[in-house]
Amino acid sequence: SEIYLHGLAGTKPPFTTDLAALEEEAAARLPEDGFGYVAGGAGSGATMRANREAFDRWKIVPRMLAEATDRDLTTTVLGDELPAPVLLAPIGAQTIVHPDGELATARAAASLGLPMILSTVSSHSVEAIAEAGGSRWFQLYWPSDAEVCASILGRARNAGYTALVVTLDTWTMGWRPRDLDRAYVPFLNGEGLAIPFSDPVFRSRLAKSPEEDLPAAMLAWMSMFTGTDFGWHQLSLLRELWSGPIVLKGVQHADDARRAVDAGMDGIVVSNHGGRQVDGALAALDALPTIAGAVGDRIEVLFDSGVRTGADVIKALALGAKAVLYGRPYAYGLGLAGEDGVRHVLRCLLAELYITLGLAGYRTPSELSPSLLRRG
Ligand code: FNR
Repeated sequence: SEIYLHGLAGTKPPFTTDLAALEEEAAARLPEDGFGYVAGGAGSGATMRANREAFDRWKIVPRMLAEATDRDLTTTVLGDELPAPVLLAPIGAQTIVHPDGELATARAAASLGLPMILSTVSSHSVEAIAEAGGSRWFQLYWPSDAEVCASILGRARNAGYTALVVTLDTWTMGWRPRDLDRAYVPFLNGEGLAIPFSDPVFRSRLAKSPEEDLPAAMLAWMSMFTGTDFGWHQLSLLRELWSGPIVLKGVQHADDARRAVDAGMDGIVVSNHGGRQVDGALAALDALPTIAGAVGDRIEVLFDSGVRTGADVIKALALGAKAVLYGRPYAYGLGLAGEDGVRHVLRCLLAELYITLGLAGYRTPSELSPSLLRRG
């Protein structure tokens, strides 16, 4: 209705409402460096493409006269009541695409009541983002230095982050030609590095401040945060540091999902990091039904990698996810129009989800099951 009314006054939406075409608009309008950082994937991009192809293979079979006028998208995930089964995926270094970075994203998410998952490598600190209000989770890249880890998690807990999302699939960076070709220079902007290394314990490990000796700070960071593959038995270390729910992000095999249950984790995110890590890995959506079947309701199953439209959210939910993490599209919205751009993208997603759910003949996310889909 809002769009119709604005149309009567001659006003159009700020940019496209076609979420599947957003990447094209972003490619045409964003600076190449910022766009390339978001759009890039590992290697040949095979997994990134597979993520989309998997969605396209599943078709919704709409039902008629289903009395779907009154719909309710609310969903409870790990004790948080969400207005819709959607969270904002952690995306690092957001000042690469817009100077307001995560602050703009946090404000847009808070205005819609959707939780934002803040990345360990954010351009703004956990404390600054907390001031934007709203429900927030924290994503951890697990560092080898135990005191740095304790400091990061302690600060997140004190700043009101409720759930902890531990990303397992990026213990070392994937081979990302698009970033490598540009030697990662987009990470440097007018303000310095887009990841400011703000943790005080990390900074205490350096002989000189990052402002005085950036290469040394970068090397120290890399030696602590990459090349550090922990084992399942070490998850108990995180339990000691985090009293809230813990979610493992990057699960792609049913056996790993079962191990997450055995390790007493609260949730998993079935994800291949948007095809940015293992080129040639299976599409995340193809991993989802097996994993959901393996763990049942013993653990909360979330999903990301390839979600673009309202119909995609329905497909992921039907195949076993409780909620999805929305990634690249909101980063394009951020680049195109800052806070308003993120809000526009999220509102389009929610509206399209609401409309498509009803037109498919369903009223709530909990009614969705594989039987509403056909593969072909
Ligand atoms: C990411 N992702 C990510 N994940 C994470 O745990 N910590 C992070 O800092 C980042 N940073 C990041 C930056 C950029 C530019 C992208 C595109 C992605 C992965 C992200 O959370 C999510 O898994 C993917 O974005 C899902 O894929 P799609 O749906 O965006 O294609």
